Amino acid sequence: MSNIVSPSILSADFGNLANDILMLNDSNADWVHIDVMDGQFVPNISFGMPVIDYIDTLSKKPLDIHLMISKPERYIENFLKYNTKVLTIHLEACRHLHRAIHEIKTKGAMAGVAINPHTDVNHLDEIINDIDIVCLMSVNPGFSGQKFIENSFNKVKKLKKIIQEKKSNCKIQVDGGVNIKNAKKLINNGADVLVAGNFIFKSENPRKNIISLKEI
Ligand code: DX5
Ligand code: ZN
Repeated sequence: MSNIVSPSILSADFGNLANDILMLNDSNADWVHIDVMDGQFVPNISFGMPVIDYIDTLSKKPLDIHLMISKPERYIENFLKYNTKVLTIHLEACRHLHRAIHEIKTKGAMAGVAINPHTDVNHLDEIINDIDIVCLMSVNPGFSGQKFIENSFNKVKKLKKIIQEKKSNCKIQVDGGVNIKNAKKLINNGADVLVAGNFIFKSENPRKNIISLKEI
């Protein structure tokens, strides 16, 4: 099975968002990565429901929603009313993670847990069989266009080992600073899903860059 590519809309042109969504519709992208930020869990504020309503209406690709908000369990229902393939919440932001994960799953989406660069993958040990996808942050969440943190390669390897040992079907997503230079090593180390913002939307040929990430 080939790897999954999820372009992060945070790097799109918000003055002309429809163009970028139509471009994705006509590309090899698998999902559309949607970064929601609350100015509390992360220092930045991105966008909320009215923008996602619009993306959801136009997009032919399912949404991969990454909540960088405190107490995300308050909004699970709101984010599952879309064509939501994945709903990801942060381990560091949610007190009753197990309960929230199961709420997402029973409502029909893949349940994702994201961890910040400082969080050891061992913290996922007890829930790895409950979740569908881990989002390993390879930058500190809050902004697009940041530099990839090299230690993420080791984290992918370490997490892959846990997944295999526990016989889990959980996928590994890597988010932040992903580009053609680090993608191959990430896939070789066990990543299944590549999120990319700047590498896709700030390039001359976004569709070509999507294919390049899919074909490595
Ligand atoms: C960071 C976001 C990422 C970001 C990726 O907080 O979660 O999804 O948009 O953008 P790039 O690929 O430019 O680092
Ligand atoms: Zn993200």
